[in-house]
Amino acid sequence: MLARDPLPPAVFEVNRLTLEYPTAAGTVRAVDDVSFRAGEGERLALLGPSGCGKSSILKAVAGFLKPASGAIKVRGRDVKGPGPDRIVVFQEFDQLLPWKTVRQNVEFPLRMAAKLSKAEIRERTETTLKKVGLERVIDSYPHTLSGGMKQRAAIARALVTDADVLLMDEPFAALDALTRSQLQRELLELAEELGFTLLFVTHSIEEAILIGTKLHLLSPHPGRTITSLDSHEFGREDIGTARLENLTREVHDLLFSPKIRKGAPENV
Ligand SMILES: Nc1ncnc2c1ncn2[C@@H]1O[C@H](COP(=O)(O)OP(=O)(O)OP(=O)(O)O)[C@@H](O)[C@H]1O
Ligand SMILES: [Mg+2]
Repeated sequence: MLARDPLPPAVFEVNRLTLEYPTAAGTVRAVDDVSFRAGEGERLALLGPSGCGKSSILKAVAGFLKPASGAIKVRGRDVKGPGPDRIVVFQEFDQLLPWKTVRQNVEFPLRMAAKLSKAEIRERTETTLKKVGLERVIDSYPHTLSGGMKQRAAIARALVTDADVLLMDEPFAALDALTRSQLQRELLELAEELGFTLLFVTHSIEEAILIGTKLHLLSPHPGRTITSLDSHEFGREDIGTARLENLTREVHDLLFSPKIRKGAPENV
């Protein structure tokens, strides 16, 4: 047998995951036997049609939904519930409390954890806000910030607690194209600078390619793995190029090939 390079240690690892919901009409299988992993600093984009189980997978990795079978590990440890190592950054960053300043929002999870002194909380908050370039608006309220600043504040709030796995579920879906593009750029810059590991859910093939270093493609309901692709060589500088267009087409064909459709007649 040929010796294989060992895989780098996974930051998060989903192994043969099946997710089900009990309903009045019986059990609904949302996700069927899905596996993927991401190493340090990787950005895994989960891509698939509406209803294929992307949000369910994200909730399971966050620890809010228990697997029917299979396992989820973060840094080698089984996920048994929500934990400080992972944090969900919600759509439109609406986890920022509007009646609190940026500083108070970012301090909030540290105060809740009640492990640090007031001075330590202050210092840690200021360091984190500097890291994401928000020192100028530290005492401003969220409604006075631009979309990009809100995103940075939401990410600062996640990172201040030492979480280094960020989970994002279509954070840009409701935004206009220009804002979306600007926030994608800011997210990538922050990810490169701070090195967090990202699980990112999107409907958009191009967004998945631009944000993700890896793509994981899911079939229509119930979500099954179609394939995984490496997209780390693609970035925003490829927008409008033939190579990005080719990969987009290739991913589109993989997602919508007749072979996959056959398994899910409701999507034909
Ligand atoms: N609480 C629930 N109870 C019952 N069924 C559910 C529940 N939540 C989700 N489902 C079902 O599980 C499947 C996957 O839903 P999920 O929200 O994970 O899909 P999705 O890929 O995130 O879709 P979208 O792209 O539209 O956000 C769907 O068929 C949905 O109807
Ligand atoms: Mg969803």
